[in-house]
Amino acid sequence: MSDALQQASKQYLVRYGGDAFPKLFRSAKGTVVKDSDGREYLDFTSGQMCATIGHNHPAIIDAVHRAGEKAFHLFSGMIPEVVAELAQTLARDWLPGDLQKTIFINTGSEATEVALRMAKLYTDGYEVLVLGGSWHGITGGASSVSMASDRKGYGVPAPGVFVIPEPNAYRPMLPGLSEEASALAGLELALTMFDMQSSGRGAAIIVEPVISAGGVLVPPQSFMQALRKAADDRGMLLIFDESQTAFGRIGSRTGSEYFGVVPDIMTMSKTLGGGLPLAAVATTAKIEEVLHDRHFTFYTSHVSDPLTAEVGLAVLKVIAEEHLIARATTMGAYLRARLQELQERHEAIGDVRGLGLLLGVELIQDRASKLPAHALGALTTQKCFEKGLSMNIRRRPECGSVWRIAPPLRVSHNEIDRASPSWMRRCAKARPACRLINTPLGSRAVSRSQICQLARQVAQVYITLADHAIGASQPVAIRLAQVAGAQHHDRDVRPPRLPAQRMQESEAIHNRHGEVKKDKLRGGARK
Ligand SMILES: Cc1ncc(COP(=O)(O)O)c(C=O)c1O
Repeated sequence: MSDALQQASKQYLVRYGGDAFPKLFRSAKGTVVKDSDGREYLDFTSGQMCATIGHNHPAIIDAVHRAGEKAFHLFSGMIPEVVAELAQTLARDWLPGDLQKTIFINTGSEATEVALRMAKLYTDGYEVLVLGGSWHGITGGASSVSMASDRKGYGVPAPGVFVIPEPNAYRPMLPGLSEEASALAGLELALTMFDMQSSGRGAAIIVEPVISAGGVLVPPQSFMQALRKAADDRGMLLIFDESQTAFGRIGSRTGSEYFGVVPDIMTMSKTLGGGLPLAAVATTAKIEEVLHDRHFTFYTSHVSDPLTAEVGLAVLKVIAEEHLIARATTMGAYLRARLQELQERHEAIGDVRGLGLLLGVELIQDRASKLPAHALGALTTQKCFEKGLSMNIRRRPECGSVWRIAPPLRVSHNEIDRASPSWMRRCAKARPACRLINTPLGSRAVSRSQICQLARQVAQVYITLADHAIGASQPVAIRLAQVAGAQHHDRDVRPPRLPAQRMQESEAIHNRHGEVKKDKLRGGARK
């Protein structure tokens, strides 16, 4: 059956970009996804960054049932009760400042289209300032304002788009300046150029609070404040695309709350539906009034659908009741600390950045040149997947090779141990990390020392991934480290040093599951 479907997928599906995995997938629960062979993978991308509360949370399943008993879909002019309730909940508990009125659609791309149409109609302008490295979606208007997407070959993009250099603390546009000074200088230059080129019909500035596809870049607060001022000075609207940052992932309710800057329009998508296609765009009552007077239209087949609204309400409730915003901060700090330990020890980790549980790790060839280590990024991501950990790698030629790590906010060591014991066993039996290098670099053109160097990097990266990703399963990390260290006879490849607290935690968990004996664990850690 599975082979036949695998064949069917090749024969009947359009390939839509990105790296498709060789296997078909069957199911997902919590932090774990399963392929059609029943093999489990830790999902450290939360699906496509959507399953913030974990895959198929019981509250989502209940919400789908509830909608099934009431209505999945209605005529678009019939506003479902649950849609009114969701709009009220957002305005009351989640949206910043005076953002109050919301429209519900399906995807992030669609949300960008709504926001741009609002800004254009409100200002009677069409010019839009966007950030380098941005991603706001794939539909016509959205792709016109996206700089990280594949723009070539699809005809004429919407006119009137101007680019502001994205702030990048690790690779400042103007070397020698501080992160903040470089970001502000880039903005000033872009605004000067814009003012020179503008036909006087500015509509909007659109920005992701964390520039995610562009490499998980966090702008300085003063940069976001300067964007607010730039929009006000020019009579343009400020749009925050909170597709990834809203509802807890970064350790605050929204990016707007984190930066203390309130936009005129906020788009939300991925994280609101928890895996179902729900997106929303919010604005102020004043702007909405003007738009309505000017006959604002965004009338689609699935606007205000009750099914997804029911799910959105459930997602927000879970985030609040399970204190997932605070959890994003604590688990994010834990994950980040592991990555920073790795960075201290290994040259290939150039930068660790991000907020809460939206983290980026930039891989470089060496710290002096900061040249991107694209091959290493691709290889580690692929090998991690083969060993049961799914993460995302962002590759941009002008920037770096960046792992994007964004597990569900409910992720815990405990949960990982409970959810995927078979994965852990498989990982424990994994081949020595150093052998990973054989396939792509087993060529005579590569010198022995180059192979050794890259093998060391891969081993180091892989060990730490196992270390941080599986958290409490230190025996696995220790074993990998021992094997790699023994095979390389290299001082750089050593078993990770583990904080006492983590050891105790690990012991407790493993003893409870009867999988690992205390003395064995201690012995392993000492070696
Ligand atoms: C910040 C941001 N905005 C918009 C989108 C587009 O959302 P969708 O893929 O749901 O159309 C994405 C998707 O990755 C995104 O990351």
